[in-house]
Amino acid sequence: MELFEAISTTRAMRRLDPERPVSDEDLRTVIEAGLRGPSGGNSQPVRWIVIRDPEIKRQLQVIYQRCWERGRKRYVERPGVIAPAVLNSADHLAAHLHEAPALIMVCAQTGGKRHDASVYPGVQNLMLAARALGLGTTLTTAHLFAEDEVKDILNIPADVTTYALIPIGYPLGRWGEAKRAPVESVLYADRWEAEGAR
Ligand SMILES: Cc1cc2nc3c(=O)[nH]c(=O)nc-3n(C[C@H](O)[C@H](O)[C@H](O)COP(=O)(O)O)c2cc1C
Repeated sequence: MELFEAISTTRAMRRLDPERPVSDEDLRTVIEAGLRGPSGGNSQPVRWIVIRDPEIKRQLQVIYQRCWERGRKRYVERPGVIAPAVLNSADHLAAHLHEAPALIMVCAQTGGKRHDASVYPGVQNLMLAARALGLGTTLTTAHLFAEDEVKDILNIPADVTTYALIPIGYPLGRWGEAKRAPVESVLYADRWEAEGAR
């Protein structure tokens, strides 16, 4: 797949086919793409836990759904912030998270501190690689409301921080272009441009 097509069609795919497994080879390929992301000083702190055990997935789903309900409230209280279709699809994911063929927990051993900028570039690489293989992903962070519980389940040490829980599988829906603002509305020349000043 052409890179720019992968970039423009990589979006949150929350409805995944529970009946269609993802091969070990494909999981390895996406993790390899992920670990090629940059990190500060090439410290490479990211660790990837691929979860396929049905019981562990179920335990994570229960926690994730509770966390999502909490996060969801914030959106519902501020109408217009999130499209109803996105809410619906996020609700679906919360109820069906454990049915994804695999979940990928992205962690980093950074002494309890957050090193987001050394982690998320690799996450995007992983999602693009998944797209190239026809696999859907969603970057989720709702579990952070109950990170300690999640760490307990996954046996993650105290000095390791979690960054994203990514369900991966073949999408039930169709790929489409991710909706984003036009470039003119976000691109400034030389200096910050106040809204309405252009
Ligand atoms: C930092 C971050 C946290 C996110 N957390 C969640 C989440 O917990 N649950 C979820 O369903 N989607 C989550 N998303 C996905 C976003 O809702 C999604 O990327 C956004 O709506 C754009 O969707 P699109 O790429 O399909 O257009 C998260 C995305 C980011 C970047």
